[in-house]
Amino acid sequence: MFHVKSEFDLATIHEGLVIGLLDKPEKFSGSLAKLDTQFNGQLTELVKSGDISAKLKSISKVHSFGKIGSKRIWFVGLGKEKDLTFDKLKEAFGKLFKDVKASKLEETAIYLDSFITEKLDGLDAAHALSEAFALSTYQFEGYKQKSNEPERKLENLTVYSEAFVAEDVQVSLTVGDAFGQGTNSARTLVNIPGNLLTATDMANYAVELASRYEFEVEILDKTEIEKLGMGAFLAVNQGSTEPPKMIVLKYQGRDEWTDVIGLVGKGITFDTGGYSIKTKAGIVGMKTDMGGAAAVLGAMEIIGETRPEQNVVAVIPSTDNMISGNAFKPDDVITSMSGKTIEVLNTDAEGRLVLADAVTYAKHHGAEYLVDIATLTGGVITALGLHTTGAMTNHESLYEQVLEASMEAGEQMWQLPLFESEKERVRNSKVADLNNSPGSEGHAIVAGAFIGEFAEGTPWVHLDIAGTATTSKAYDLGPVGATGVMTRTLALFVERFEPIEK
Ligand code: BES
Ligand code: ZN
Ligand code: ZN
Repeated sequence: MFHVKSEFDLATIHEGLVIGLLDKPEKFSGSLAKLDTQFNGQLTELVKSGDISAKLKSISKVHSFGKIGSKRIWFVGLGKEKDLTFDKLKEAFGKLFKDVKASKLEETAIYLDSFITEKLDGLDAAHALSEAFALSTYQFEGYKQKSNEPERKLENLTVYSEAFVAEDVQVSLTVGDAFGQGTNSARTLVNIPGNLLTATDMANYAVELASRYEFEVEILDKTEIEKLGMGAFLAVNQGSTEPPKMIVLKYQGRDEWTDVIGLVGKGITFDTGGYSIKTKAGIVGMKTDMGGAAAVLGAMEIIGETRPEQNVVAVIPSTDNMISGNAFKPDDVITSMSGKTIEVLNTDAEGRLVLADAVTYAKHHGAEYLVDIATLTGGVITALGLHTTGAMTNHESLYEQVLEASMEAGEQMWQLPLFESEKERVRNSKVADLNNSPGSEGHAIVAGAFIGEFAEGTPWVHLDIAGTATTSKAYDLGPVGATGVMTRTLALFVERFEPIEK
């Protein structure tokens, strides 16, 4: 896919050549000055006239009329050097590759050194390039009957870098690609409808992932889940004909199984709401209620590729939330694996129930730090909108580490408070230790607070991605549908993780 070359020969034949253009007085120097000479200085003229723009994310296409080997040149505007960040560079690449893809090219070349700034070196640029390439050209195949016309796919990219060692550039391209592919896998899992991705299918997917990356894997079936007393998880599955699966993957990157990070993802393959049934408009799209599980599996894929020196246990409780004569009901009292009893006030608040047992189980597997991730509440959309993941924590310095990773990944998150007053609301039940739905005020917060009851003293961060897991608008780094949000944040968090002194 990526071929790195240290010699940049303008005569080499390519369908396209991509050049980055910073908004600075000297537009063409070094190899680019040679390029401009080939065009008798006309490129400089085109910049002056504004036909080629250095404005951030503007894409200008110029035909080469046989003056160089490449048929056309794509100039990518990068704006002012001091303002160009890793994120913005990825977006610019994303916009470029969408354009290149639409032009149906099968191969193109890129002059990496034209994307280097004082803050971003060739290795950053290479990572941004390959990650953006995977993300921006992602497409969910779907289930339409295919036409017979062969599809042209951009499959070969020659990367020229005179300033950086080819092997190093190749490594960065591979890492960026792993981040992109892991996110795309998460997107695909979310885009698949509930009839085609059951808990059993998700478990099979995890087994396949485990064999690809030599993870230890454990899939608990219904009998084992019953034996362990996971009454909260089982209650949600009670109305379904599909058996539940508790999926566990272990990656050991240290000699000892210590400082274990637990990644816990909500894996509801379809959420009808149960007897607290959703509206006919609200139920559409609920195939995406396993977005947390998808992010965890996507992150595990990246971890499998990059193999950091960390220990990770991924735990995914998976089932659908259905209605039948057997289904659980409001007023039911259930007993979680932790022993805590729960009064069910709303069967649509099922995510926190399955996560309660999953968090407890992650601790049983040795997790000393927990991050749970879930399409948990409509309330987080009311609070933070559609572009920001909601976060909560019982441990500020663990939260800082997750926040740092999210900033590096370019995924927005914002913390919601966890005060005693809201913990009290979760603990307020006449018949049980907890209730699963203390009323609509601060939905997102009480949902997080409920999960926190099961994290107990273990450092824990909760991520609510109900607003960010999908998008109804295409963007530079992806199409409409699943975003794969937080896949990269989780993987980066694991990679950079520093154990906290106890
Ligand atoms: N899966 C939903 C949350 C959701 C909403 C995800 C919109 C994606 C988009 C969750 O299980 C749910 O139904 N939450 C309820 C909780 C309430 C009934 C206490 C909510 O937030 O409305
Ligand atoms: Zn629900
Ligand atoms: Zn749900």
